[in-house]
Amino acid sequence: MQLKKVIHKEFNKQQINSRICRLHESTLSHHEIYAATKTLIQGKITMGSTVRKFEQAYAKKYGFKYAVMVNSGSSANLLAISALCSPHTTKRLKPGDEVIVPSLSWSTTVWPLVQNKLVPVVVDIDPKTLNIDINNLNKMISRKTKAIMIVPVYGNPCNMDEIVSFVKKNKLTLIEDTCESMNAYYKSRALGSFGRVATFSTYFSHHISTLEGGFCVTNDKKLYETMIIQRSHGWLRDLKDFSNWKKFINFYDKRFVFVDTGYNLRPTELQASIGLIQIKKLDKFVKQRRFNANWLRRELEPIIGHNVTFQETQKHGVHTWFGFIIILKKHVKKSVVKIREALSKNNIESRPIICGDICNQPAFKFIKHRTMKNKNAKYVMDRAFSVGIHQNLEIKDLEKIKRNLVKILK
Ligand SMILES: Cc1ncc(COP(=O)(O)O)c(C=O)c1O
Repeated sequence: MQLKKVIHKEFNKQQINSRICRLHESTLSHHEIYAATKTLIQGKITMGSTVRKFEQAYAKKYGFKYAVMVNSGSSANLLAISALCSPHTTKRLKPGDEVIVPSLSWSTTVWPLVQNKLVPVVVDIDPKTLNIDINNLNKMISRKTKAIMIVPVYGNPCNMDEIVSFVKKNKLTLIEDTCESMNAYYKSRALGSFGRVATFSTYFSHHISTLEGGFCVTNDKKLYETMIIQRSHGWLRDLKDFSNWKKFINFYDKRFVFVDTGYNLRPTELQASIGLIQIKKLDKFVKQRRFNANWLRRELEPIIGHNVTFQETQKHGVHTWFGFIIILKKHVKKSVVKIREALSKNNIESRPIICGDICNQPAFKFIKHRTMKNKNAKYVMDRAFSVGIHQNLEIKDLEKIKRNLVKILK
């Protein structure tokens, strides 16, 4: 009881509001810090029952059959792709197979493909939603294309009817990098439930946080088990059910049977103890983000709408607003750099959109890939930025963001 009080008091001391409109602010309260401290004191730190509890709670909330918690969203992407390439997986991806990705992606959306000897096929985005442009898929598909990995930008759902129909028609594997899309829906169905596997991030800046962390989710039992195995060294021991793996278990000491290659991507009990509290707050946090985004759009459009556009949502999509995106129209002479400097001087943080056109990043020079002219992603890279709309922003902060944007962009 005493410990709880001390943590609460120390936590409150830190909450001096400097009135910086940050891109992200901690979602943690003294409750999470108490839970994490208790976990440390109890000494149960490495992956165990709390991680399993958090996985089950996450899967249940969105109707996924299985969730595998890992130590980051990037690790989730690595694990998902590696498991899809495993010899234990049906319809596995093989070296040289092509995977379609949107040009506006995160680095570790694409790197796991390269690390698994797959070939990214980078296609341009739709300039309104900023998601992969469905019209480009038929242009870029080839005989070697075996999968598509979508990235709903900032939690803005793609047109999943069109994506799923393209995937079915071409017998592809659908992978959802939903690391920015926690709590996003398409026709009342959670993003992450459309593909064979999907990934989420619980990094500090995301909708909820476990400090670092992430998930792979799937309804495919064998793929789930392969991810459990690859998450921890390639060993069998973390499985609950050995029925698919019987032929291996008498081979050696059961705890030291390695049936696949693998990594150590395990999260800790400490992260999961934080996650179990965070998940109860997720709906509230996202509701606030939606309110903030609607407020900014409603207030800004009539005043600066002749100079900028905003990210458009699909008719059937429910967006989760990782941030609020502003795109300069062609005739606007001001540079994004200058605009962002002016915002920064007034204590408003901003950033580019994901990593811009991935093909324009220096690392891409060394990567075997196919692509098209990604003029829309390049335009977003050069002419767009985002500001924060996280759970802690109040109307007075939104007013300040509005005031400054209007001053610069009217
Ligand atoms: C689309 C996308 N995928 C993957 C990641 C990686 O997640 P993490 O930072 O948890 O490694 C991010 C990070 O924000 C992301 O935006």
